[in-house]
Amino acid sequence: MLKIEGLVTYYGRVRALAGVSLQVARDEIVTLIGSNGAGKSTTLMTISGVLKPTEGSIAFEGRPIAGLAPHEVARLGVVQVPEGRHILRGLTVAENLDLGGFVRSAEKRRTSLARVYELLPRLAERRDQLGGTLSGGEQQMLAIGRALMAQPRLLILDEPSLGLAPRIIEQIFELIRNLNKAGTTILLVEQNAAMALEIADRGYVLETGYIVAEGSAAMLRQNDSVRRAYLGL
Ligand SMILES: Nc1ncnc2c1ncn2[C@@H]1O[C@H](COP(=O)(O)OP(=O)(O)O)[C@@H](O)[C@H]1O
Ligand SMILES: [Mg+2]
Repeated sequence: MLKIEGLVTYYGRVRALAGVSLQVARDEIVTLIGSNGAGKSTTLMTISGVLKPTEGSIAFEGRPIAGLAPHEVARLGVVQVPEGRHILRGLTVAENLDLGGFVRSAEKRRTSLARVYELLPRLAERRDQLGGTLSGGEQQMLAIGRALMAQPRLLILDEPSLGLAPRIIEQIFELIRNLNKAGTTILLVEQNAAMALEIADRGYVLETGYIVAEGSAAMLRQNDSVRRAYLGL
């Protein structure tokens, strides 16, 4: 579904990605793990069109997407939940959700909204509440709901568990698993490598702009350097 080859991305003169290659097959959950500053967010933002690569290719369902604008990438069905959520605190839950659907027709937005409220009843209860008044967990749910409004075929999540309590993290992972079961392919970036490797089919390990390991989640969980560096074992 997604095929990335030799991706190189710079911030000015700083090279953040030094040739990243990875693939995601339809219906998979694939996780990208790595320490702070490894280039995980840069990889995701390059896929979603926020950053332009200087080298390499990105194909979604066989179609080259590197260089497309973010809204064009989203319209094709590649939708990202950014690190830090970035919900609009001064808008209501319903208004935040509506923004996520802007790449779709009014009719599709209505069906998506009904589905998001069904999946996330908490958001339905709070639809008229301002985004800024939600708890951290609810804000993450809202950020995911907003992405779902764009009807993703590939949903990309950047550190969804960041800063949340263990009980809420469980709920977020449960939601990701359910979305995947219902037919959404997932690319997940997580600091919590143990949990990510629990729900993922496959994973990649990124270090300073390079992929240094890849394989099935089961294999990565057994890998000595992964265990030492990311699982604290
Ligand atoms: N806006 C930016 N300007 C300059 N350098 C950046 C910027 N964002 C990230 N970087 C650098 O790019 C590298 C990769 O960062 P990032 O992709 O955010 O890592 P991760 O998400 O894995 O923590 C780091 O060295 C970081 O300092
Ligand atoms: Mg990051």
